[in-house]
Amino acid sequence: MSNPIGRHPLSASGPEVSNVGLGCMAMSGVYGPADRAESIATLHAALDAGITLLDTGDFYGMGHNEMLIREALSSRDRDEVLLSVKFGALRGPDNSWGGNDGRPAAVKNFLAYTLQRLGVDHVDIYRPARVDPSVPIEETVGAIAEMVQAGYVRHIGLSEAGADTIKRAHSVHPIVDLQIEYSLISRGIEKSILPTCRELGIGVTAYGILSRGLISGHWSRERTAAGSDFRAHAPRFAGEHLDRNLELVEQLRSVAEAKDASVAQVAIAWVISRGRDIVPLIGARRRDQLAEALGALDLQLTQDDLAEVERAMPAEAAMGDRYPAMAMAHLDSEH
Ligand SMILES: NC(=O)c1ccc[n+]([C@@H]2O[C@H](COP(=O)([O-])OP(=O)(O)OC[C@H]3O[C@@H](n4cnc5c(N)ncnc54)[C@H](OP(=O)(O)O)[C@@H]3O)[C@@H](O)[C@H]2O)c1
Repeated sequence: MSNPIGRHPLSASGPEVSNVGLGCMAMSGVYGPADRAESIATLHAALDAGITLLDTGDFYGMGHNEMLIREALSSRDRDEVLLSVKFGALRGPDNSWGGNDGRPAAVKNFLAYTLQRLGVDHVDIYRPARVDPSVPIEETVGAIAEMVQAGYVRHIGLSEAGADTIKRAHSVHPIVDLQIEYSLISRGIEKSILPTCRELGIGVTAYGILSRGLISGHWSRERTAAGSDFRAHAPRFAGEHLDRNLELVEQLRSVAEAKDASVAQVAIAWVISRGRDIVPLIGARRRDQLAEALGALDLQLTQDDLAEVERAMPAEAAMGDRYPAMAMAHLDSEH
């Protein structure tokens, strides 16, 4: 595997974190079935490589993801790891989604169950997965701040929040990081959200750095997503949108080949190049994917290389929204 992964402070006042994190969502069925033993092996390989940040959500597989992480950590030192947990998404037994709950009583309830499932006495970073429009963000963050006071949570984060919400939340309690989608083809945060985070000294943990696999170089017209796989309903993976988006990937492949790198490595290296305050979440669910992704840390892209990457996959060139219409409506960051 690559060189040891470095560390840096997540935000102006935040904890030290590895330069990349591991997002564990795909290990709990969001992109179709995942192999449990391989998931655990991938978690261990990530920790062995020096990754300290593990990202999860209590709703990923309705607790499945947290219990998987607990199992992986049973043979490891929990204090070496930063557990970043999202809460608030409401699920049904049929895998359905039922909105978000950011009420103070719900915050404490979600947290109580998470601590049990993870088998820990505190969560390192706790964040609402989405801003609940029916609850002022001050109340949601205020409830997490009480949990910080009580020792059950170390730091507070946000997810897919817009600039105004970030400022309001940060005035209640310091926010350490905003988790949000950011990639060569999802650059919406550059306008006002990223500048707001930088102004306030808030870090960014970037997800969707491969656009759910679309710009990994491993997706093709022949690969179909079915059933509850997120990509079966994602506009960027549909019909003529997919054709256009895969053309962009082929343009990126030419740049990658010239650098003796893979498409995924160039896409991840581009995110890394955007600033030290941005921590990319690697969404690997297998060890081979993790190894490929970590190869991006060894890739040196010059300013000329980066310009070439952006010519191959220009901002705004992708077709289709990053979420289906109903989910887009729940994104405070898009309002
Ligand atoms: N805050 C939020 O709203 C939010 C939303 C989504 C995700 N997240 C977090 O961010 C993490 C990453 O998100 P994401 O799934 O959107 O990431 P991503 O990097 O855009 O996509 C990951 C998918 O890309 C494919 N892939 C192909 N080659 C890969 C490689 N070398 N390394 C990694 N993946 C490769 C895999 O799918 P195949 O195995 O099917 O090829 C993998 O599941 C999640 O695990 C979760 O913790 C947060």
